[in-house]
Amino acid sequence: MTALAKLIDTVGETARDLWRRGWAERNAGNLSYRLSPEDLSGTELGEEPWQELGAHLPDVAGKAFLLTATGSFFRNLEVRPGRGDETVQSRDLGVIEIDESGSRYRALWGYQGGGGPTSELPPHLRIHAARIRTDQQKDRAILHTHPTNLIALTYALPLTTHDLTRLLWEMHTECIVVFPMGCGFLDWRLPGSEEQARATEKVFEKRTLAVWEQHGAVAIGPDFKTAFGLIETAEKAAEIYLIAAALGPISCRLSTTQLTALAEKFGVEPDPEILGQGG
Ligand code: 13P
Ligand code: ZN
Repeated sequence: MTALAKLIDTVGETARDLWRRGWAERNAGNLSYRLSPEDLSGTELGEEPWQELGAHLPDVAGKAFLLTATGSFFRNLEVRPGRGDETVQSRDLGVIEIDESGSRYRALWGYQGGGGPTSELPPHLRIHAARIRTDQQKDRAILHTHPTNLIALTYALPLTTHDLTRLLWEMHTECIVVFPMGCGFLDWRLPGSEEQARATEKVFEKRTLAVWEQHGAVAIGPDFKTAFGLIETAEKAAEIYLIAAALGPISCRLSTTQLTALAEKFGVEPDPEILGQGG
């Protein structure tokens, strides 16, 4: 089994988990992974024509990425261990490389049947660029999905990064430990646009998790399980908040004192601009 096939197995498991949670309706969501040369060893690669990125991204120049195809269904990406379906994988996934100038890409593998990478290639590449530029190169796996409760919050409440992070931290003990740098909040922007990509890139210079207003969540980690865990934890807190709010006024939340104690016990350093304010 090649290194790429092994990685695709973890993609299948992640896609299955997302779909079963109800966060990946139809073609909702997309994912990417920054590949090392070793990840591609043993895989037969082709070379499709170069295409313009429409942006100059020197931080990802010369790098290769595995990305879901636009329109692909996470439901179809499920790969049962030992029963990989090559046809599904190479239609719904592909590998691209960025040229040495950081301005063009071409497919090296997959996207069979004329497909191409996710329509949200711009935010994916810019999130990878942000992590590389800020020397957080261990982060390779990006997940974007549509978690119901987090999205509902963005319809119900006027939010900022500070307010959303406080809400999530205060409504579930795990949150400050799992995402001490907080959850970025981004106003609605057209999915896949340069505007959305640039705003998201800025957030990921500092954080590993963000919510796109009226759209979904996006997270990065060293692997897909870590990125999944970030979204899962934030989504749980959002669910607790919505259930508690439905029962009546929320009567208690974790205080700054409690949050500080949690951070100390678990050895994390929360964003001081967020922990320093609030109740
Ligand atoms: P793609 O099918 O192009 O990846 O789009 C899915 C999505 O969730 C857009 O926000
Ligand atoms: Zn989406």
